[in-house]
Amino acid sequence: MLSLLIFLTGAWGASDFPAEAGYASGGERACVMCHIPEDDHPLADIRHSPHGLSGDDRSPAAQLQCQSCHGPSLAHLSVQDGRRPPPAVAFSAETPARQANRACLDCHDDYSQRHWHGSAHEFADVSCVDCHQSHSKTDPMMQRETRERVCLDCHTQVRGEIHRPSSHPMRHQEMSCMDCHAPHGSISDGELREGSLNETCYSCHAEFRGPFLWEHPPVRESCGSCHEPHGSVHDNLLKARGPQLCQQCHSAAFHPSTAPDGGGVPPQGASSSMLQRNCMNCHTDVHGSNHPSGAGQTR
Ligand code: HEC
Ligand code: HEC
Ligand code: HEC
Ligand code: HEC
Ligand code: HEC
Ligand code: HEC
Ligand code: HEC
Ligand code: HEC
Ligand code: HEC
Ligand code: HEC
Repeated sequence: MLSLLIFLTGAWGASDFPAEAGYASGGERACVMCHIPEDDHPLADIRHSPHGLSGDDRSPAAQLQCQSCHGPSLAHLSVQDGRRPPPAVAFSAETPARQANRACLDCHDDYSQRHWHGSAHEFADVSCVDCHQSHSKTDPMMQRETRERVCLDCHTQVRGEIHRPSSHPMRHQEMSCMDCHAPHGSISDGELREGSLNETCYSCHAEFRGPFLWEHPPVRESCGSCHEPHGSVHDNLLKARGPQLCQQCHSAAFHPSTAPDGGGVPPQGASSSMLQRNCMNCHTDVHGSNHPSGAGQTR
């Protein structure tokens, strides 16, 4: 339907198409007589956005213009029974997410073929326009300096996490949510860019990919067993301080200690000064070791 009408259109503001299937004729002229009375009206900024490029025949400006997104709007032009029906797609609070998304996916149909359908955002009825702005010259989501703010307006818990003492450097946009996440959906849990949590970490921290001669199973299983990806109050993004971190899984009771008194590691035996800071004083290579005698990850 949309493509059938392309041939009828010209520059933004100069097109004409028949009043069929509920579309108003006259292109944007059918709308701007009431909306956008002056050029400095915020709605008019869309003319200076990628959607306003009339030279690009895939763009709304070169197609049904306002009605490319707002859908058939003929009925909206007049008042019936004391009421003006909204355009088919008003993008208001009453517009169901599915319907609003359909209007964008008509053109951006490559997202349907990728992972949008079934993504956490689609599932939670977050719509394209909850993230993207159409009536501004630049979409804040497409700007490096502003896009995190849009995410964090909804994800307030993550906002707290990235301000913890140890964090991935996201506060000043050195790193982006999109370095790890695919906001339009992905094949992995948590909308991660790569196929799994570990693959996502390896894309930057390749030195931990292994395989190692002496593996530490939880590292292979998930970096998330010990690390908080966004931020932590403990050094190195750790979920807990050592030795508590390790004692989530290991009991200190039967530790084959090398301490002089022959006891176990604290609190069951020996002095707590043996640990100084934590288990990593001795087990220096908790991510795995390639040292021929690296059993126990002590070298
Ligand atoms: C005759 C004047 C007039 C014309 C022409 C007109 N509109 Fe409107 N439009 C209005 C008025 C008045 C409102 C506010 C309606 C209300 O608050 O109930 C409105 C509201 C809207 C809204 C918000 C609806 C909502 O429910 O939030 C959209 C979107 C819209 N118009 C798009 C368009 C489009 C697209 C066209 C061209 C096809 C158009 N309008 C043509 C008068 C007009
Ligand atoms: C690329 C899609 C797209 C095109 C093209 C488009 N709009 Fe919109 N319009 C939206 C979205 C999305 C909203 C919801 C508010 C927002 O995200 O900016 C909206 C909101 C509106 C509103 C309600 C604004 C308010 O403050 O309640 C009006 C009126 C409107 N558009 C008129 C127009 C007119 C007139 C045109 C043509 C010049 C047009 N739109 C072209 C997507 C579009
Ligand atoms: C009539 C077809 C059409 C419709 C409908 C449409 N778009 Fe687009 N959109 C385009 C084209 C064409 C571009 C420019 C693409 C390019 O340069 O590769 C674009 C670009 C974009 C961009 C990139 C903007 C930038 O700054 O680079 C975003 C984001 C976007 N559209 C979102 C939306 C959303 C959200 C909707 C629904 C409200 C929508 N589009 C509706 C055709 C459309
Ligand atoms: C959770 C927020 C969010 C939602 C929801 C969302 N987007 Fe995006 N979109 C983004 C971000 C962030 C980018 C920038 C991509 C990047 O930097 O990796 C983007 C980029 C784009 C682009 C530019 C081309 C590209 O792929 O980089 C288009 C077009 C687009 N989105 C369309 C859509 C459409 C259509 C929908 C709804 C089906 C949608 N978006 C839903 C956040 C979102
Ligand atoms: C309009 C609000 C909104 C915006 C904006 C938004 N999100 Fe979301 N996001 C949600 C909701 C709602 C969910 C589903 C419920 C949940 O898991 O919190 C979700 C889910 C997610 C998930 C998946 C959580 C899981 O457990 O699977 C990730 C990752 C995510 N969002 C990242 C982002 C990123 C990155 C951005 C910015 C590009 C963003 N979101 C923008 C509302 C939003
Ligand atoms: C270093 C990689 C990385 C960065 C950068 C990142 N995340 Fe995440 N995020 C993750 C991982 C890993 C998970 C956990 C996924 C799982 O357990 O399935 C996650 C989970 C989430 C969740 C689900 C709820 C939760 O907290 O577990 C949301 C929402 C989310 N991230 C949003 C964001 C936002 C917003 C940003 C940008 C401010 C961001 N993330 C930056 C890696 C990252
Ligand atoms: C896009 C690249 C990138 C990805 C993906 C990534 N990181 Fe990082 N990571 C960094 C950068 C950059 C630093 C900061 C280095 C610095 O500050 O010197 C860092 C630092 C760290 C630190 C040390 C933090 C500190 O306080 O010193 C840990 C731990 C870490 N990352 C774990 C992870 C985990 C786990 C994942 C997967 C969920 C991951 N990273 C994914 C780039 C990345
Ligand atoms: C068994 C717990 C555990 C698991 C699982 C784990 N780490 Fe660590 N990680 C640590 C500890 C403890 C530190 C603190 C540095 C030290 O003392 O070795 C650390 C430090 C780091 C650092 C910062 C210091 C450095 O050596 O660069 C990065 C980056 C890192 N880990 C990435 C990862 C990645 C990527 C994964 C998944 C492949 C992972 N970690 C899995 C416990 C773990
Ligand atoms: C999520 C659970 C988990 C956490 C947290 C964990 N480990 Fe392990 N660790 C394991 C498992 C599982 C094994 C394999 C046990 C086996 O092979 O019998 C293991 C094995 C080991 C081994 C023996 C390796 C070998 O070569 O025999 C050492 C040493 C070790 N862990 C130290 C640590 C230290 C130090 C920490 C804290 C930084 C830690 N672990 C945190 C689960 C964990
Ligand atoms: C004073 C040094 C030291 C400290 C501190 C220490 N370990 Fe060990 N640990 C060792 C040595 C030495 C071995 C034997 C390594 C080998 O098999 O070659 C060992 C072995 C282990 C093993 C393998 C046990 C087995 O049955 O093979 C685990 C698990 C372990 N340590 C966990 C921990 C945890 C958890 C902590 C912190 C609560 C900790 N260690 C603190 C020195 C230490």
